[in-house]
Amino acid sequence: MEFVRHLLVFLHLLGMGVLVGAFLVQRRSPDVVNKGWLHGAGLQLVTGIALMGLSPLTGAEYNHVKLGVKLVVLVVITGLAFLYTARKQNPGWLPQALVGLVVLNVGLAVFWT
Ligand code: HEM
Repeated sequence: MEFVRHLLVFLHLLGMGVLVGAFLVQRRSPDVVNKGWLHGAGLQLVTGIALMGLSPLTGAEYNHVKLGVKLVVLVVITGLAFLYTARKQNPGWLPQALVGLVVLNVGLAVFWT
């Protein structure tokens, strides 16, 4: 089971990389919101919830308040990316707001024990 947890953490960290990559791609093609935001957010959602849900089996102990806050932040990221992908718009503030929320979740993951 420890291998499964490591695999999920591996994918969770790659998902974070996809979100940072989406920000860099966005700077090159600012006209529309690129799909990387939704792919990265989806990967974070699936792997994060799997890590949390499997914790009775993996034996990992998590701070559920922290995970709830991270989930809310991720829902905001996903909602904004969905909204502006559907509208085919990319307001100037959006990439900074999305990457700021990603960095917020990294900070919560690392500093909130
Ligand atoms: C943008 C969204 C997210 C980012 C950037 C992110 C980032 C991270 C990072 C960097 C870590 C590693 C922390 C460390 O090992 O000290 C981590 C761990 C973790 N994250 Fe997330 N996270 C996100 C969303 C979520 C969500 C929505 C959930 C679940 C509701 C979640 C659940 C977890 C869990 C359970 C761990 C601990 C894994 C372990 O070491 O066993 N994450 N996250």
